[in-house]
Amino acid sequence: MIAKLILDKKREGHALGSAEIREFIDGYTKGEIPDYQMSALAMAICCRGMTERETADLTDAMMRSGRCLSWDVPTADKHSTGGVGDKLSLIIQPLAAACGVAVPSLTGRGLGLTGGTADKLETIPGYSCSQTLERFQEIAKTVGVSMAVQTDEICPADKKLYALRDVTGTVASIPLITGSILSKKLAEGAGTLVFDVKCGRGTFMKTPDEARALAASLVGGSRAAGRKATALVTDMDEPLGFAVGNANEVAESLAILSCADPRLDDIAELCIEFAARMVALEKGMPVDAARAMCREKLRDGSAKERFVAMVEAHGGDLARFETLLASPTFKFRVQSMKSGYIADIDAEKVAKVAFALGAGREKAGDRIDPLAGVTLAVKHGDKVSVGAPLATLETTREPDELERLAADLLKAFTITQEPVSPRRLVIEAID
Ligand code: URA
Repeated sequence: MIAKLILDKKREGHALGSAEIREFIDGYTKGEIPDYQMSALAMAICCRGMTERETADLTDAMMRSGRCLSWDVPTADKHSTGGVGDKLSLIIQPLAAACGVAVPSLTGRGLGLTGGTADKLETIPGYSCSQTLERFQEIAKTVGVSMAVQTDEICPADKKLYALRDVTGTVASIPLITGSILSKKLAEGAGTLVFDVKCGRGTFMKTPDEARALAASLVGGSRAAGRKATALVTDMDEPLGFAVGNANEVAESLAILSCADPRLDDIAELCIEFAARMVALEKGMPVDAARAMCREKLRDGSAKERFVAMVEAHGGDLARFETLLASPTFKFRVQSMKSGYIADIDAEKVAKVAFALGAGREKAGDRIDPLAGVTLAVKHGDKVSVGAPLATLETTREPDELERLAADLLKAFTITQEPVSPRRLVIEAID
């Protein structure tokens, strides 16, 4: 009966009390409140919204539905709302670790156009993201960084609720997204949280206003829970870097960690920006000093060293990864039909082609093709001539659709006669 009263109250647009939210989430987690009542509440929240205090209570109740970790060393994590070619965590987390901040990072397998960070890491033969929380903590403390998947012990309420939201049209709600993302990040126990809220065609927040609102909610919720937090709203209209897929993104991350390709310097700078905020907040130092430290730790190989140590601790073998990258695949090259300047590369179109090649999964449990994906040959602003390579499609599956997909990929590129201004990767800082 209490569930029905709470539903009435939210339907009428009133704020729920802390105890009401806690009891509802507890009841749902234990199976005492059925899916249909939880769906009704989720829909009422979508339509009526929640105050900051209600969102904080929702987050807290979801966090407390499972285990919460604690640390006796400085800790920070970065969370991204996800985008096309978004391999930044593979660089940022070891970079922050190299600066003396432990990074316990529970991450997800992807659902959608490309794999999640866990899928990318698991293209390294032997790397296992499935660790007990005890082993996860041990690796984060001894190596400085661990990237693993969330176990069932963390936020079981979110696991149930997210699956329900997915099928009831209730994903697009800032309080529900905040509760979902933040409950998991708070349960990890890191002292500092830095959010990368992506905005544009290749992500679910399409406009700067939507992205800003989510960023502010995540930062506010983290602070309400006693953590240090900040967010950057970043551009996701075009893919990040050249590689969109899984193994190719790991290879590109290794290139960035090795400072091997000046054409990736813009992505390296973005990684430095995030890692610097993690280090500055957690160590209480000026961002400029943290930026300088991160730049040095990337340049001198310390960040790469942390990445390699993390891979080893998770059972991964980078020599076998090199062999995997060299294994035979079906490839198709897309060439430019005109000369000019690359004015736009539509992230969503690129991601759809990568998905069709096998880089993503439609439903949980589907197998990802580790070598499938798109590798761009050009970036925003490049000058190209007729016949110049624009991208390569790659897959290990039957190549019967490659030509059609190549035609789709070509539509992602806009080429103009006039030179174009550089792309701004960071749209706004939400401090
Ligand atoms: N990612 C999550 O973990 N939860 C959401 O609700 C949306 C994105």
